[in-house]
Amino acid sequence: MLKDKINIYRATKKDIPFLVKSDQEILDYHRNFDNRYKKGVTVELIYKKFISRDIKKPNTYYYIVEKNEKPIGYFSFNIRKLTPIFILDKIAYLETMYIQKKYRGLGLGKMIFNYMAGILKKKKIKKIELSVNTKNKLGVAVWTSMGFKEVSKKMERNIL
Ligand SMILES: CC(C)(COP(=O)(O)OP(=O)(O)OC[C@H]1O[C@@H](n2cnc3c(N)ncnc32)[C@H](O)[C@@H]1OP(=O)(O)O)[C@@H](O)C(=O)NCCC(=O)NCCS
Repeated sequence: MLKDKINIYRATKKDIPFLVKSDQEILDYHRNFDNRYKKGVTVELIYKKFISRDIKKPNTYYYIVEKNEKPIGYFSFNIRKLTPIFILDKIAYLETMYIQKKYRGLGLGKMIFNYMAGILKKKKIKKIELSVNTKNKLGVAVWTSMGFKEVSKKMERNIL
C-alpha cells in the first residue's frame, strides 16, 4: 500500500530545491484560474530567497513527504501569536500542502494532515487556519473534506 512506504521529515537546507520546484508548480496551477499573476516570470530566485529565509524562522515548519526516499510532496505551517482580543493566544497557520500530481487522490493529503495535527496537539495548539483561493475548486474541496469552515472572505475591486 502507498502509505506503507511514506516517510515524513522536517525539511533542511538540502530540500530547498525541491520546495522551490514544488512552489513553482503550485504557482503554475494557480495561473490556470487566477489572472492576477504575471505570465512568464521566473520565480526560482525569488522563491529560493524566500524559502531559505523562511525555513530558518523558529516558528515556521517545513516537512517533506517522501516515498521510497524520494520527495513527493511537502507541507508547511507556522505558529502565530494572536493579540489579546482573541480567546486563543496562538494558532497554527497552514501555508502550503502539496503532493505531486500522480500521487494525489490516494489519501496522502489526509494522512499528512493528521500527522501535522499530531505535531500541533503536542504543542498544545488548538486551532489551525489557512487561506485558499476561492477559484481553487480542488483546494476548497480538499479543505472542506478535512473539516475546515469558512470564516472570512477576501474581496477586491478595481479602482482604475
Ligand atoms: C491539496 C492536496 C495536497 C491534497 O492531497 P491529496 O493527497 O490529493 O488529498 P487526499 O487524497 O487525502 O484527499 C483528501 C480529500 O480531499 C477531497 N479531494 C481530493 N481530491 C479531490 C478532487 N480532485 N476533487 C474533489 N475532492 C477531492 C476528497 O474529499 C478527499 O477525501 P476522501 O477521499 O475521503 O473523500 C493536493 O491536491 C495538491 O497538492 N494540490 C495542489 C496544490 C494545492 O492546491 N494545495 C492547496 C492550496 S495550498
